[in-house]
Amino acid sequence: MMKFIHSGKVKDVYELDEYNLLFLFTDRVSAYDVPMITNIKGKGEILCKFAEFWFNYLNTNNHMVRLDGKDKMVVKKLSMIPVECVVRGYLYGSLFERYTATENIMGLEPNLKLASKLSKPIFDPTTKSQIHDVPISEDQILEQKILTKSELDYLRNTSVNLYNLMSIVSDKAGFILADVKFEFGRDPQSDEIILADSLGPDEFRMWTKESYKAGKEQISYDKQFLRDWLTKVGFRDKVRLSKDGEKPVPPELPSDVVDELLKRYTHVYEKISKIQI
Ligand SMILES: Nc1ncnc2c1ncn2[C@@H]1O[C@H](COP(=O)(O)OP(=O)(O)OP(=O)(O)O)[C@@H](O)[C@H]1O
Ligand SMILES: [Mg+2]
Repeated sequence: MMKFIHSGKVKDVYELDEYNLLFLFTDRVSAYDVPMITNIKGKGEILCKFAEFWFNYLNTNNHMVRLDGKDKMVVKKLSMIPVECVVRGYLYGSLFERYTATENIMGLEPNLKLASKLSKPIFDPTTKSQIHDVPISEDQILEQKILTKSELDYLRNTSVNLYNLMSIVSDKAGFILADVKFEFGRDPQSDEIILADSLGPDEFRMWTKESYKAGKEQISYDKQFLRDWLTKVGFRDKVRLSKDGEKPVPPELPSDVVDELLKRYTHVYEKISKIQI
């Protein structure tokens, strides 16, 4: 009997046996941190294929064992490293908030606009938390003995290299890879640290090159359409006006919205996965 372990925003995780987990990529979608009540049929399959593509393409040790059907991936069960390895090529999201609130953050030059391209990609790790991931500096990681110096060096270098590779592919496909989050774990059998979790639209921000302009909010290609529609029907205002911790009930998504969303996930996947370098 497969043991259910965990249900995240997107995937459900089961324990297959002593050494393996099963990731089920569901059709769930959320927006403004609110899970929608309508599923995007076929989304899980695309996200599973997307993760498979990157694990094959990146040519780095990873936890993928095999696909099991269209929307399930068998992975090696690892002992997870308690740090989320975020790499950012652009000044966006929580880094922009910290940048405007604190002087001299991560050695970035002053007066950069929102969504500016950074002079080089930076490693911006966070702790792994159930509620809200918190940024943690490399010094704190070492002081708190979360990682050794050589583990930290390895994770930083690997993450930045993977980001660079992924952004070359994205660029060729017409997209900007603004940032990405990697998770790593230790393989109990070989004792090596290997790439884990998943790689897809929930782990990275991707903008179209066409619509990119520094100085304004950019919306990920896949999220744009849903957010626009939710704004149109007044749901965005409901979220804004709702009290902390109280989420409004989302509307049913009409079938043309569902179709368009699936089309977008499929479009990014197909554009990216046909790039050959
Ligand atoms: N190979 C692995 N072995 C053990 N645990 C893993 C492995 N790969 C990923 N994990 C962990 O499994 C969990 C996957 O959960 P999932 O990503 O679905 O939800 P979540 O991280 O809780 O929430 P969110 O939906 O915000 O991502 C994460 O805690 C991740 O760190
Ligand atoms: Mg996760």
